[in-house]
This record gives sequence, C-alpha cells and structure tokens, in this order.
Amino acid sequence: MERYAVIGQPIGHSRSPAIHARFARQTGQDLSYEALEVPGAELQARLAWLHQQGFSGLNVTLPHKQAVAGLCLSVSARAQQAGAVNTLLRADGGWIGDNTDGEGLMADLVRLGIGIQDRRVLVLGAGGAVRGILAPLLALRPACLAVSNRNPWKPEALAEAFKLHGPVLPRTHLALKGEVYDLVINATSAGHSGAMPRLPGGLLAAGGDAYDLSYGPAHAPFAAWAALQAASRVEDGLGMLVEQAAAAFELWRGVRPQTTAVVAALRRQVQTGTDADEVVPGHQAPRRSHVELPPQD
Ligand code: ATR
Repeated sequence: MERYAVIGQPIGHSRSPAIHARFARQTGQDLSYEALEVPGAELQARLAWLHQQGFSGLNVTLPHKQAVAGLCLSVSARAQQAGAVNTLLRADGGWIGDNTDGEGLMADLVRLGIGIQDRRVLVLGAGGAVRGILAPLLALRPACLAVSNRNPWKPEALAEAFKLHGPVLPRTHLALKGEVYDLVINATSAGHSGAMPRLPGGLLAAGGDAYDLSYGPAHAPFAAWAALQAASRVEDGLGMLVEQAAAAFELWRGVRPQTTAVVAALRRQVQTGTDADEVVPGHQAPRRSHVELPPQD
C-alpha cells in the first residue's frame, strides 16, 4: 500500500487525513495517509527519512510551506511564484515541490459559481496565502484586482512581483475609502485571533460576494463583517481546503476526486466539532503520527 502524509507543527487538528481517506474510498485507491508532527529544526532530516521510508507523496502545512521549497530537488513554476510548497511528489533521490492552493481556490470559486472575469476584486492581506492565489486570479481577467494590507509595503512588493501576470492595485485598508468591489476575498490571518482588519464602509457593491480563506471559528469575524455589508453570499475556506487536497490527490494518483460530498461531510464535522480523525467505513482509517520518526541528534 502506498503511503502519504501531511507534515506540519502543530498537526493535531489537520483535516487532511479525513479528506484523503474519503478521496481514497471514493476513487477505489488503496493508500494510507497520516498526519506527522515535524518541528522546523528537523525538517530537512525528516524529509530525507520519509523519502527513505518509501513515502510516495506528502502535503506540507504551517509553518513549513516556505522552508520546504528550499529543500526540494525542483519546484513547479506555480510553487516558485508562490514561494511556498504544499505538495511533494516523490522522485529519485528527493522530492519535487508543487503548490495546489491557487488551483484549489479557483476550483472552489467555480464550484460555488462565483465569477472573477470583469468583476472588481479585492484581496485582503498580502502574506504567503496571497502569493499563491494572485496569478490564477489575474489569469481570469478581473476588471481590477486590488490587494490591501495593514503593512503598506507588502502590496507594493506583490504588485511588482506579479506585474507580468496583470495589474495589481496596491492599497492599505484605510486607503480603500470610496472604492467599491464586487468580490472581497479575505486572505488575512486576522480571524485566527478573532480580529478583522478595520475597513471603510461601502466597500462591497450591491449583490457583491465575500469569500474567506479561513474556516471554522477563524471565519466568524469576516462573516460578521460581510453580513453587515449585506453581501449576497458569504463563503468560508472549507471548499478551498478540499479542492487543494483534490488537486494534490490527482497529482499523486492520476485521478481527480469529486469534492462536493466531501466538502459537505467536512462541514458537518466542523459544525458539530467532531474530531477530524474519522473512520470511513470499509476503508483504511486515517492515522496520526504512528510512524516512529528517528531520534535527532
Ligand atoms: P499566511 O500564510 O496565512 O498568508 P502570513 O504570511 O503571516 O500568513 O500573512 C498574514 C496576513 O494577515 C498579512 O497580510 C497580515 O498583515 P500584515 O502584513 O500587515 O501583518 C494579515 N493580518 C494578520 N493579522 C491581522 C490583523 N489583526 N489585522 C489585519 N491584518 C492582519
């Protein structure tokens, strides 16, 4: 049985084992997928060890997405652009890095029927997550794409870095006063501390949409803001989470899983607070850190 895993720290709350167990069952693939806690200081050694153990592929989550990029034999153009890797494919002598986050967002927007073309799009935040989504958003030809951040130099740096893909309008949150957008995408990590960037009123056009890369409790502040703006729809990032996993699964296994039922099941788990470690009947249970990793000196 081929083995896969997600590595990160902390990893206890990762939904990836449950998602991939569902994908495996749905597509009839015989594989195992586990969650492994890997501290930053041991990243390089653990990657080499997991390769040696014969793992076929890995997902990478916080806080290692940037560091792993520098430890790969090579990385895809989109991972290079994002400066981050979330998927590793096994190759002779090491790992090849890719990044499916942008593809995951695009697939989720399609699934939800949220259009980009000819719409005024605002992205809140200018961190690592934004680097992964700007190129695919620009490829869909929005009427304009603004990136707004607390710290003003980051949007300017992003506008420069992505100028070959299309124009990015650099903004600070306060400088958005008087501007109107059809879609606001929250890519800040503010929700994880229960916060929401301070924004001027009137940002969202009538009929405008609000999409959050966060989900669960971290989605609440943005959801509250969007409700106050009378957004026509407010979506969280659970769909993107499942779609980026589906893209990784396809890279590894050559088959793209259906995502709608998996998103619905995950949503039930998140809403009811069920543990992520769900046993899917008739299939290999997702496992967590059962691999005895070698001691580090
Ligand atoms: P990620 O990988 O999730 O993008 P990151 O690279 O640390 O994480 O970026 C976090 C983003 O959320 C940044 O744009 C950050 O703004 P600053 O660059 O000004 O720090 C934004 N952010 C985090 N907490 C915030 C808060 N309380 N209010 C507004 N923006 C916040």
